[in-house]
Amino acid sequence: MNIRKKTISITSPGVVAATALLLTVSPVQASSVGEALYMQHCSVCHQPGGKGIPGFFPPLADNTRVNSDDAATIQKYLRRVIFGYHGGLIVDNQMYSGRMPPIGYVGRLNDSELLNLINYQRSAWGSNARAITFTELAKARKAGSLK
Ligand code: HEC
Repeated sequence: MNIRKKTISITSPGVVAATALLLTVSPVQASSVGEALYMQHCSVCHQPGGKGIPGFFPPLADNTRVNSDDAATIQKYLRRVIFGYHGGLIVDNQMYSGRMPPIGYVGRLNDSELLNLINYQRSAWGSNARAITFTELAKARKAGSLK
């Protein structure tokens, strides 16, 4: 009787921990977290499919800066997302001169939420750009706003 009880109480937390670990490392789960954050913080302007609204909100889908593999371009992109931006942009021959809010600024989204969100965009809507690292994000945070 006693032995049986003990077995159950040891196994159950183990199963719970293993399930939690599987959920954490599963790529499907990670990408849906990024998607949920995108829908919550970005889609109202850049639209659920990332196409933006011409003349008002630039597209993030098929945007060469958003999907770039060039280190300097990635830094610019990260700094715009973290600190917001209001400097004027041209995307697909269309001018934009709106104001992007500082969504990723300290206290709004933490680093792992930001990475989830950013890497969702870089792998969504037909794109296959490499994942951004914590080191790159930390560098952009340190560098500060672009304007
Ligand atoms: C309130 C509307 C709004 C929200 C919300 C918003 N943005 Fe923006 N975003 C803009 C505007 C407007 C610009 C263009 C700014 C300019 O022209 O100077 C912009 C520009 C950008 C750019 C630069 C694009 C380029 O071609 O370099 C990126 C990247 C970007 N936004 C990502 C995001 C992400 C990621 C989120 C969510 C975390 C987000 N934005 C939320 C309005 C918004």
